[in-house]
Amino acid sequence: MAGARERLRTGWDARLALVRDICPRGARVLDVGSSWGEYTLLPLAAVASEVVALDVDTRPLAWLSMFAAERDVTNVTTTVESVHDHRGSYDLLRCTNTLQLLSGTERVAFLSSFRRLLTSEGDLFVDFYTPRYLAFRVRYQKGLGLRLRLVSAARLALWRHTLTVRRFQAETGAVGLRIERHVDSAVYDRCREHEGNDFSTPLGRYFAAFVVVRDDGGWSKHGYR
Ligand SMILES: C[S@@+](CC[C@H](N)C(=O)[O-])C[C@H]1O[C@@H](n2cnc3c(N)ncnc32)[C@H](O)[C@@H]1O
Repeated sequence: MAGARERLRTGWDARLALVRDICPRGARVLDVGSSWGEYTLLPLAAVASEVVALDVDTRPLAWLSMFAAERDVTNVTTTVESVHDHRGSYDLLRCTNTLQLLSGTERVAFLSSFRRLLTSEGDLFVDFYTPRYLAFRVRYQKGLGLRLRLVSAARLALWRHTLTVRRFQAETGAVGLRIERHVDSAVYDRCREHEGNDFSTPLGRYFAAFVVVRDDGGWSKHGYR
């Protein structure tokens, strides 16, 4: 927990710039698999009217409530529940660093739940690491023990715990969602680098981030869809 609290102390300019890019002012936000909030949940609360942090794991949500209280943030609530059981309607869904860990079947179920929880004009902000991340761990990550390096090599060889952009595109299309834009800004990179990611190696960026919308979405801040 000390490490998480320490990470939240710095890098706020980049985090706020990122949330202003992805979150309409006054939006109702659901963070799926939020854990303790990582790099943008608490800054989101400065732009959104309400942020619901949803996770099946109780402990990191307790940390998140503590971190929110320490900053006098009052519009973040936590819910211990599976995304599949949650009911509601949100302007923005956020799901970070999670989809690549799921099996294809589970991921499609997650994406279907996202579609159900989004308003017709709503946006889903999602990021995941691509197979490059595992290659990065094997070849470049500093301070990583041999065992974890071998685990990454095995996952890469078996194509497990990873997700390609092409596959993500196909799966979003299959559930009635569509990618609206690729978030590949310097601000996004700064937020991720702040957490200790290193995009400077020959493998470059190993995260992919997107804004996704319902394929029946009508008029919105982005124009006709
Ligand atoms: C790898 S963590 C990502 C945490 C955080 N979003 C981040 O960016 O670091 C994935 C999270 O998803 C949660 N999770 C797994 N299955 C879930 C489900 N069905 N509904 C809600 N959360 C779930 C896990 O408990 C875990 O905290």
